[in-house]
Amino acid sequence: MKALKVLVKSLLILVGIGLIWRWLSRNRSLPCPTWLSSLLDSRWSDRLLGTQTTLDRIGLRPGQRVLEIGPGPGRLLIPAAKRVLPGGEAVGLDIQPGMIERLKAYATRAGVSNLTAILGDAIKPNVPAESFDVVFLCTALGEIPNREAALRQSHTALKPGGVLSITEIFPDPHYQSRAMVRRLTEAAGFQLKELHGLWYFFTANFIKS
Ligand SMILES: C[S@@+](CC[C@H](N)C(=O)[O-])C[C@H]1O[C@@H](n2cnc3c(N)ncnc32)[C@H](O)[C@@H]1O
Repeated sequence: MKALKVLVKSLLILVGIGLIWRWLSRNRSLPCPTWLSSLLDSRWSDRLLGTQTTLDRIGLRPGQRVLEIGPGPGRLLIPAAKRVLPGGEAVGLDIQPGMIERLKAYATRAGVSNLTAILGDAIKPNVPAESFDVVFLCTALGEIPNREAALRQSHTALKPGGVLSITEIFPDPHYQSRAMVRRLTEAAGFQLKELHGLWYFFTANFIKS
């Protein structure tokens, strides 16, 4: 009984912290701290967070140039870089120096040489216009206070007909619903191409129109 009470209290505290974090992130950048990134690069996270499923849904092909906004330590971007070989390139843009350092170190450890890690903000990414076939975000959109500006920048970075792919996983504190993702992306000039998964783990692919 005592153990159950402790469990319920701990869960309520976690939910409370998540809600406050989500609310504060509306106006200021409060990204997932680097020290928490070990949750994203442990062995079990690939299974729990559906890394291969997400990559299948994005539909990467050899030869493509792909950009991930908010790659963290590279749970998705490092295997994505392998999937676009031969001839393809992967670029990761993250706002936190600690994440960029980890991404570079893990890419080197994995023997991936077609990956570039850039420190920067999604709302003013230092990448050439119309240079990517695919731009993707996974559990990152809700961490960006100005999501509209970030999506407009993704639109600019994509080649004509390029694909924007957004994956959201509940209960990420910054989870964005399918309706919200659709509303924001359509306002930025994208058209829904396909929707994979259910509300708690979905990937929505959009075409630059
Ligand atoms: C929850 S992590 C997700 C990491 C990775 N996409 C994954 O699914 O394993 C969100 C990442 O987005 C990054 N991020 C947050 N705001 C950003 C912004 N404005 N521009 C670029 N990256 C940002 C954070 O630093 C963090 O690495």
